[in-house]
Amino acid sequence: MELSKRVSALTPSSTLAITAKAKELKLQGHDVIGLGAGEPDFNTPSYIIEAAAASMREGHTKYTPSGGLPALKEAIADKFKNDQNLDYSHEEIIVGTGAKHILFTLFQALLDEGDEVIIPTPYWVSYPEQVKLAGGEPVYVDGLEENDFKITPEQLDNAVTDKTKAVIINSPSNPTGSMYNQRELQKVGEVALKHNILIVSDEIYEKLIYGDAAHYSIAQISTELKAQTVVVNGVSKSHSMTGWRIGYAAGDKDLVKAMTNLASHSTSNPTASSQYGAIAAYTKEDGSVETMRTAFEDRLNKVYDKLIQIPGVTCVKPKGAFYLFPNVKQAASEAGFQSVDDWVTALLEKEKVAVVPGSGFGSPDNIRLSYATSLDLLEAALERIEHFITK
Ligand SMILES: Cc1ncc(COP(=O)(O)O)c(C=O)c1O
Repeated sequence: MELSKRVSALTPSSTLAITAKAKELKLQGHDVIGLGAGEPDFNTPSYIIEAAAASMREGHTKYTPSGGLPALKEAIADKFKNDQNLDYSHEEIIVGTGAKHILFTLFQALLDEGDEVIIPTPYWVSYPEQVKLAGGEPVYVDGLEENDFKITPEQLDNAVTDKTKAVIINSPSNPTGSMYNQRELQKVGEVALKHNILIVSDEIYEKLIYGDAAHYSIAQISTELKAQTVVVNGVSKSHSMTGWRIGYAAGDKDLVKAMTNLASHSTSNPTASSQYGAIAAYTKEDGSVETMRTAFEDRLNKVYDKLIQIPGVTCVKPKGAFYLFPNVKQAASEAGFQSVDDWVTALLEKEKVAVVPGSGFGSPDNIRLSYATSLDLLEAALERIEHFITK
């Protein structure tokens, strides 16, 4: 079958590739520990499940407005007001089937052939593919390890051309867990304003932050920056609702309208019962979001301390999300591996630990370990990694 050029050029997700290999080994009876997960290992809080179930029993099982139920938009607007003191009207908010599809729709609505989008590396795997699918060109800017994987305003300034349409800021970041502070966001924002480029601020890990880290949205910094920014967020990570597929964006109303028109011809609307679940997520509370956050923080602290003791491994301590992004280049080259990708394959084959190679995130010296799994398994995985390196 001859497929379109568009899909033929797609890079398959590196996260899914390693997960598939780990599954295959598991089926063969091997005791595999998977650290590839991109989702919390908790069930969705029961008050959310109850609200969604009740909505179905009450007959809310039909199409909804394409951009989301007014009651959900209201709950999202209240969340922006309470958390960031940001005011958005319903026309400035679109709800979609997960933040991933919201981003997909956003790039489709924004980009013409050849438009450039600046993507800091390491990046979440879907950004470049989504930009390319919309005809755009990803332009990569290296977030250096010595700067906690963050880009500087000077780097951004140098990367802008007359084709630049947008820059993506993902704080806290997948895969590094790094976060931009208020001053850094302001500086990056000044460059975006100077060149009149849109800021796509992916804040999906906003609620999963640790230690003394504080989350700022770049849209909070000034009215000018709010106008220049589309904030993308969702309930997948904060409320452990990855399978429900609810994400949203807030920004310029013409852009939101175009995205909503597009959604009306693709998804029609986000799943009705999931929207009712998301309304509950934002309007009710039973402490479970904080319980999950605390569990992640506890794991991070324990696992991080052990990880950095392993010879040949260095790691910037993450401030948010649920990933560690250690540099294992030294360990890999000392063991005679040509690349960290080869090291990752050998780690899975020999020690049965599945991690994601950093090459898929634009950082070939690193690996991504997800700590969205039990502490016992994490500790066992680290012992195996240490054995693999030191044996
Ligand atoms: C940085 C980042 N943005 C967006 C998403 C998409 O989240 P959703 O499940 O809402 O589609 C993810 C999911 O892994 C992510 O890591």
